[in-house]
Amino acid sequence: MKKVEIHPDAVERIKKFSVNDPQLGFGKYVCPIMVQAIYDNGEWKRFDLLPYGPLSLDPCAKVLHYGQEIFEGMKVFRHPDESIHMFRPEMNARRFNQSARRLSMPEIPEDQFLHACEVICAYSKNAVPRRLGESLYLRPFMIATEVGMGIRPSKQFLFIIIASPSGSYFSGEDVKVYIEREEIRSAPGGIGFAKTGGNYAASLSSYAKTIALGCDQTMWLDAYEHKYIEEMSGMNFFAIIDGALHTPELCDTILDGITRKSIIDIARSSGLQVHERRISIDEVLAAAKEDRCHEAFVCGTAAVIAPVASFMDKDKSVVKLKEPHGKIGMQLREKLIDMQSGRAPAPAGWLHSVPNLNF
Ligand SMILES: Cc1ncc(COP(=O)(O)O)c(C=O)c1O
Repeated sequence: MKKVEIHPDAVERIKKFSVNDPQLGFGKYVCPIMVQAIYDNGEWKRFDLLPYGPLSLDPCAKVLHYGQEIFEGMKVFRHPDESIHMFRPEMNARRFNQSARRLSMPEIPEDQFLHACEVICAYSKNAVPRRLGESLYLRPFMIATEVGMGIRPSKQFLFIIIASPSGSYFSGEDVKVYIEREEIRSAPGGIGFAKTGGNYAASLSSYAKTIALGCDQTMWLDAYEHKYIEEMSGMNFFAIIDGALHTPELCDTILDGITRKSIIDIARSSGLQVHERRISIDEVLAAAKEDRCHEAFVCGTAAVIAPVASFMDKDKSVVKLKEPHGKIGMQLREKLIDMQSGRAPAPAGWLHSVPNLNF
């Protein structure tokens, strides 16, 4: 494993950095340092902690034309005893490499990925917020930098990690879901399970429609029948039907969410039934009308859990859920946040502590 080389300018920059804003927002502030690694000639050459700054890219860099890029999103928490912990970063490391394989990009050994995350966290320790619901959001990403117009995998890459002290993404407003029955986000054999820009680019026109219709989130359905629920553009989906949790089973068109997995584990260990299966949107709408589904929620690293208020269909008809601030979703949210922030014990291996450096 390569050690991250620490540049003195980066240390000087981060020492002077502080944020005093009761409304941290999401991505509004970015720490003035970044980890950067260069891949060339079949290997990761070096890892550096540098001052944050613009990248210099040749206009022919492959990422700018063919979208060869991947990213991750993960959170880091300050516990009441001031210790700093990443939440399940091993899962992000694993998912990053799954995305890398699908996008024909080089993998980063898990211990190398984790070491790079630890370094930016350790140097950003004073920027990890204190209030419940706040965290340091890490955004590792990789781009193809080889110069050339030929459509083939790049041989050169940049890996970067930036960090953002962030507030709760959850506005407190329940989510109004727009059911996308025409466009699709991803098809079997495609790249839906990978965390790569193309999936998000494909979601934007529907996002604009969703917002114009007064909704908040697009719900994507399967590519063949436009019938089965897959996920939202940046979150997974759960419905509570007859008292049990139901969530779409994973397949290659759905991102394997770490929040989704954590919720399933917490729910099962709290005695709730969880079914991972194909769920048609019409089944959920019928269950809501029949009073068997009072509650649904969406989940992801940024928002944790946000309750669904209603579903709007293509003909603009709206089905409202009876109990938008559903008890079960909010209880699961509280449990997960308590574990992440050190207010309740987390299952073994869920918290990865960050070394306390003096610098
Ligand atoms: C498409 C998509 N689905 C689901 C999720 C939720 O995944 P996680 O819980 O790992 O943040 C995300 C966010 O990362 C996402 O971008």
